Amino acid sequence: MKGIILAGGKGTRLYPLTKAVSKQLMPIYDKPMIYYPLATLIEAGIHEILIITTPDDLPLYRRLLGNGSRIGCSFSYKEQPEPNGLAQAFILGEKFINNDPVALILGDNLFYGTHFIEQLKKYATYDGGMIFASKVSDPHRYGIVQFDSNKKAINIEEKPTHPKSSFAVPGIYFYDNTVVKKAKKLKPSKRGELEITDLNRLYMDEDCLHVEVLDHGTAWLDTGTIESLMEASQFVQVIQSRQGILVGAIEAAAYHSEAIGKDKLSDLAEELKGTVYGNFLKSLIL
Ligand code: G1P
Repeated sequence: MKGIILAGGKGTRLYPLTKAVSKQLMPIYDKPMIYYPLATLIEAGIHEILIITTPDDLPLYRRLLGNGSRIGCSFSYKEQPEPNGLAQAFILGEKFINNDPVALILGDNLFYGTHFIEQLKKYATYDGGMIFASKVSDPHRYGIVQFDSNKKAINIEEKPTHPKSSFAVPGIYFYDNTVVKKAKKLKPSKRGELEITDLNRLYMDEDCLHVEVLDHGTAWLDTGTIESLMEASQFVQVIQSRQGILVGAIEAAAYHSEAIGKDKLSDLAEELKGTVYGNFLKSLIL
């Protein structure tokens, strides 16, 4: 399975913070935001990844992440000149996806939970579409899924004014190879975007969309507002200092998912010698 990270958009809700620097490069505690979704994909065993971002920001991501070979992965890049919606990722990524299934993760979504990674691995070969649902207190901000009495998903709406449930769809999606064809069928919504919610509806119409409720052991944080950005930093800081681990360390994710072995990890730890980050990588080897 291949992976796409969408790190586009103008980040206007976080202005002036994101006026000169891409939102997904903002720090979440001690790492750039994109490290967290990237580590999630890598940890799930997805090592071929396309990063989609704006023409202005693309060189910055390339400088930060390179071609991925440093951590046994392959990273490529594609411009999204205008923020025309999440589902456009599959049209822009058509060549990259080729004949494979693909996972999309949003560059501003953070997931934490060991069971979650196991769940993701299970879906790497899923036939159809696979998304998650998680209860939120502010459903008007998200894609909202409605279930019937048998827990079957029967409807999805994007940012509804009158939400019919409080189950939001987090920014990680798994699709079979028909996704490219489906994305091309979409028409822009009222806000002028190719909506991921409309894409999920197409899968739902064919009765091949699976919606899995996130278990309580998984934390999902988004970073769309200044408050949630701050909360995400606090969350990472608390987990890291209490558990003595690093959340979102891409080198550790590469090691756990066998993209690199002990020798390579040891070299990477050496590169970062004298930092908390480097010490953590070293502790994984011992
Ligand atoms: C997007 C999607 C929405 C989803 C959310 C998750 O919204 O359109 O369906 O629930 O991501 O973060 P956006 O944050 O782009 O407004």
